[in-house]
Amino acid sequence: MNNSRIIVALDYADPAKALQFLDRLEPGSCRLKVGKELFCRSGPAFVSKLINLGFDVFLDLKFHDIPNTVAQACVAAADLGVWMINVHALGGFKMMEAARAALSSNPNPPLLIAVTILTSLGDEDIHAVGLSGSIAQHVQRLAALAGQAGMNGVVCSAHELALLHASVDKNFCLVTPGIRPAGSAQDDQRRIMTPGDAITSGANYLVIGRPITAASDPMQVLTAITAEIEIATP
Ligand code: C5P
Repeated sequence: MNNSRIIVALDYADPAKALQFLDRLEPGSCRLKVGKELFCRSGPAFVSKLINLGFDVFLDLKFHDIPNTVAQACVAAADLGVWMINVHALGGFKMMEAARAALSSNPNPPLLIAVTILTSLGDEDIHAVGLSGSIAQHVQRLAALAGQAGMNGVVCSAHELALLHASVDKNFCLVTPGIRPAGSAQDDQRRIMTPGDAITSGANYLVIGRPITAASDPMQVLTAITAEIEIATP
């Protein structure tokens, strides 16, 4: 059974390139995140292929629509056998509740995760769409709403971890991107954290892309991050 806390972001436009990269990994060594670009190019069959190769898949499609549509999309995603899926908490309590209810007949449902406020948004952006107050307040409120609606956790940035870890139930998963091992390139991430510090701050799963996908020896980087996580795990 896979118990890795590392979710490798498979940010490839070309499924063949993604498979070439996976040839260099051991399936039990990590989980995989498939986002909108790769999914639109390669489809459900590719996701099934990854699962058949032995990988747990986080299908990162961030559903946001009326409750019935999101619920049925979640059922369709769950039927693929993926390990984790996500929806936007801003879709509302009823939407999240419908997604949870729709998965109730699945004997092995995926973890259902909510996105609170996209980390690409700043204060001026949320004010422009009519949200007053601070991003931190909205993140905390939406995470609480997600928990009440039966979500299994939220995606959050590393700098939101401490705030959420202190306020959410201990079984509520915190899934965190923007992770960079010490000394690795920052790329376009603005506020980064090391794997060890993110785990110490309360992260349950780390989404890591380029530090692993662009490494000359991905398995070596994965092994080093896994060791760092083990040391930091409380
Ligand atoms: O390559 P890198 O480690 O920066 O990849 C991070 C992954 O996490 C990408 O797939 C990116 O889209 C995703 N992500 C993020 N920040 C968020 C939400 C998702 O970097 N706030």
